[in-house]
Amino acid sequence: MKGDIKMFVSKNLSVNEKGDLTIGGLDTVELAGKYGTPLYIMDEDLIREHCRSFKQSIDKYYGGKGLVCYASKAFCCKEMCRVMMDEGIGLDVVSEGELYTALSVGFPMDKICFHGNNKTDEELLLAVENNVGRIIVDNIFELERLNDISKKKGIKANIMFRIKPGVDAHTHDFVKTGQIDSKFGFALETGEAFEAVKKAVSLENVNLVGLHCHIGSQIFDIDPFVLASEIMINFISDIKTKLGHKIKELDLGGGFGIKYTEDDTPVPYDRYMEKVSVKVKELCAEKDIELPFILIEPGRSIAAPAGITLYTVGGVKHIPNIRTYVSVDGGMCDNPRYALYKSKYDAVVANKASKPKDTVVTIAGKCCESGDLIGECMPLQEAVPGDIIAVLATGAYNYSMSSNYNRLCKPAVVFVKNGESRVAVKRETLEDIIRNDE
Ligand code: LLP
Repeated sequence: MKGDIKMFVSKNLSVNEKGDLTIGGLDTVELAGKYGTPLYIMDEDLIREHCRSFKQSIDKYYGGKGLVCYASKAFCCKEMCRVMMDEGIGLDVVSEGELYTALSVGFPMDKICFHGNNKTDEELLLAVENNVGRIIVDNIFELERLNDISKKKGIKANIMFRIKPGVDAHTHDFVKTGQIDSKFGFALETGEAFEAVKKAVSLENVNLVGLHCHIGSQIFDIDPFVLASEIMINFISDIKTKLGHKIKELDLGGGFGIKYTEDDTPVPYDRYMEKVSVKVKELCAEKDIELPFILIEPGRSIAAPAGITLYTVGGVKHIPNIRTYVSVDGGMCDNPRYALYKSKYDAVVANKASKPKDTVVTIAGKCCESGDLIGECMPLQEAVPGDIIAVLATGAYNYSMSSNYNRLCKPAVVFVKNGESRVAVKRETLEDIIRNDE
């Protein structure tokens, strides 16, 4: 088993001669010793590889007429923004906090898409003042507020509309109407989206450059993306015919699925663009419209497989005929996804990684909450206090969704690259915990 990378869900993980789990070639047990636990580790080389594969798919299948914008809600910090900037990738931000992080590292604002279903005036102002490339307008009230704010600043803001294309990617046999019940965006089938476009073209301080849709997350099927692109191109054609307005850009959002456990079967990342490009080109030719500039917004697929979380085992409770709890020094505060969605993960005892997983356990966190679990029925090497447990593919929606519940300090985030490690986000201290208390 030693060195057999196929045994792990992410390809950057292996086992060294000591029998320890490695990430990007570095010994995770040594990293735990050096930086402490709980600890997030992100493999920068793998993050970059994912960025390139999305970028190359646009080059290869769509003549490079597009932009990959990393959905920073998956995992955002200054170092992550710097890596994206270096890769020539744009950013999808969804709050002034994410935008501020991007601004703090000098991120090119023309490559930013600003999302959110309820942006505040302060957020809109920050976006307008900094000439954010595209503000994705969610509703008619926001459109009016943004027009006023841009007018005061003497600017014409580039906007897109968030559209509900009516594609439900989460049913096996995807249906076209399910998504009307969503808090995000304008509905197509009620005519709401068309009315909004009409209004936008009449306003002086917004410039409607594009349309956006996002059909869901952790999707393994390509067909819903193709269907969404078809619906959007039809709408672009309708707008041209009925209003004479040219929509130049089409943002198809993110949602590409990744492998959390052996049950997941992700599609190679370049396949999405391959299939979508064919449909978009075909329809544009048929309808005699110019090929739109295409944006995609992968979040999870760039960050998740690159990350792991390391914990130290504190105690093990065998409850006869019921289950075995293995308690670790983190939990729902650093990974709320099992508590929220019952999301499944693979775990490994990092210091026994070459041994067989011959127990089945519940990994429990240290929060004062029975539902504070990392997972149930998880195959694992026999764990004893002091062991290091690695939970795999935690690079997305873990740190970014972490909290200080029970006044626990957020873990550090360490980046590994070319066999070296460095701190990207410091571990919080007790002083941080009381910093804002009066
Ligand atoms: N673009 C938009 C407009 C989005 O709303 C999202 C995700 C993305 C892109 C990126 O999607 P991705 O490629 O990461 O699937 N907290 C949940 C995931 C929420 C996703 C929200 N929107 C989780 O932990 O699974």
